[in-house]
Amino acid sequence: MLRHPDARGFGTTPLRSRAWFDNPASPDMTALYLERYLNYGLSIEELQSDRPIIGIAQTGSDLSPCNRHHLALAERVRDGIREAGGIPIEFPVHPIQETGKRPTAGLDRNLAYLSLVETLFGYPIDGVVLTIGCDKTTPACLMAAATVNIPAIALSVGPMLNGHYRGERTGSGTIVWKARQMLAAGEIDTKGFIKLVASSAPSTGFCNTMGTATTMNSLAEALGMSLPGNAAIPAPHRDRAESAWHTGRQIVEMVRADRKPSDVLTRTAFLNAIRVNSAIGGSTNAPIHLNAIARHVGVELSLADWEEHGADVPLLVNLQPAGEYLGEDYYRAGGVPAVMGELYRAGLLDGAALTVNGRTVADNVAEARIEDERVIKPFSRPLLAAAGLTVLSGNLFEAAVMKQSVISPDFRARYLSNPEDPDAFEGRVVVFDGPEDYHERIDDPALGIDEHTLLVIRGAGPIGYPGGAEVVNMRPPAALIRAGIDALPCIGDGRQSGTSGSPSILNASPEAAAGGGLALLRTGDRVRVDLRAGTVNALLSAAELDQRRAEQQANPFTGPPSQTPWHEIARNETGQFAGGAIIERAVKYQRIAQTM
Ligand code: FES
Ligand code: MG
Repeated sequence: MLRHPDARGFGTTPLRSRAWFDNPASPDMTALYLERYLNYGLSIEELQSDRPIIGIAQTGSDLSPCNRHHLALAERVRDGIREAGGIPIEFPVHPIQETGKRPTAGLDRNLAYLSLVETLFGYPIDGVVLTIGCDKTTPACLMAAATVNIPAIALSVGPMLNGHYRGERTGSGTIVWKARQMLAAGEIDTKGFIKLVASSAPSTGFCNTMGTATTMNSLAEALGMSLPGNAAIPAPHRDRAESAWHTGRQIVEMVRADRKPSDVLTRTAFLNAIRVNSAIGGSTNAPIHLNAIARHVGVELSLADWEEHGADVPLLVNLQPAGEYLGEDYYRAGGVPAVMGELYRAGLLDGAALTVNGRTVADNVAEARIEDERVIKPFSRPLLAAAGLTVLSGNLFEAAVMKQSVISPDFRARYLSNPEDPDAFEGRVVVFDGPEDYHERIDDPALGIDEHTLLVIRGAGPIGYPGGAEVVNMRPPAALIRAGIDALPCIGDGRQSGTSGSPSILNASPEAAAGGGLALLRTGDRVRVDLRAGTVNALLSAAELDQRRAEQQANPFTGPPSQTPWHEIARNETGQFAGGAIIERAVKYQRIAQTM
């Protein structure tokens, strides 16, 4: 890359955009590059003035309503960039909308990652503002920034306002599970169902519950990749626009300081984020996404780290689905800085971790205090003593996770009440092959599902159901719900929506379609779960398992056919959930902006 030792204000660090716009070694190409960016109104003076070109990676669009408010926020980002001396260039990111994308938005995270890597690498961009929000948009953007490694800062779109229905808070995502149960029990009709569900989403922004969106936006902040306080400001709130302006100013400073993702996304930062994930009651999608970001930036991180560093961290945030409140309450109670302040003062965070503003975690949380103890609990009085993930293994899979915060007193009483064996339960399984099979048969009385049944779903991992389906949180048959049983333990190789409070063992790796043991299970088998030992085992002899494996290999489980080119490519290239479900061959491309 061309070096500009006398570049104004940027020390000895050259701007990579100079290779396009001011390259004495290649004046003809410089002219061509300049000409195309001049043609909408930029000037030669600007483009050759040693001002950094700042990309605004725009994830909002009419197809992505959760992130749509970024279209408005980008104006304030531009103002901040201009004010600090940069030149904003906004461009679209492949759209992802969690609930609208078929067959699943999980497929699009890696696609958005690939296309953003290509954009950031191949165009004259010195630094980038990542507009994050809806579930997969956050990891897709952070993964791409990790691979390319140009200065990058995340701007959250913020949660929606709180939903209300007949005087009660209704949370986006969480209300759907409740509404489905009410519909199944005949308490509401279809019209009432729609009205109840829609009440939970009253404004622009991402889901207002502690689902995957709030989780990942909180963790982007915990990782140090966004400004302190950024995650929780509700989308329509005036503070959100102000944060956008500060973010625009900050990215210009980051380019000046050459502060890159690899400086922020260290193993220390990931371990801090794991602890924050427990304290907020974060989504079970978090380990998939954080492990993916870590692998792209070259940091060692495994599911074992989640258990070792996160399992014993208490739950502090009282948000649905684990608790009562919603996004507006989270913000007013102090948001992520308040949570991190509690953890830091309790000695659970490494305060030395660097963040995008050039300050450390310790600096950022020094003044942070809880503003409402109903919503964010002090460390000394948590909602739950240990809220992290339990990692399980056995003869059905090498690794699966269960969120400890969903083990409710009701679940404990029903399944973990044997005084001789207080951490274990076993039951007969009913096995479904993919989401369609489950939807078709769940209410079939012939399955004999009762309150002791374990529901199993397979063919729902990244290969079996391209992208991986969010289906492991299966509702019991309607008849059982009417009898008062509103959740059964579930096991599966798919994911679960971050807004579900269901007691599920999920993300099983390897999945059935990749030769995992779930493929061998049959309805009627018995499975034993031991939460203390961290094991899940089918109670079958080794000989029986071997025989079934031989049968299975003769007739392998393939899942539904691919419907688009990307379905097929993704199935061939994507690894398992335990390893972040990334494009495995992408890992060898690291810090690629520095290779130019
Ligand atoms: Fe987009 Fe929840 S569906 S944030
Ligand atoms: Mg989701």
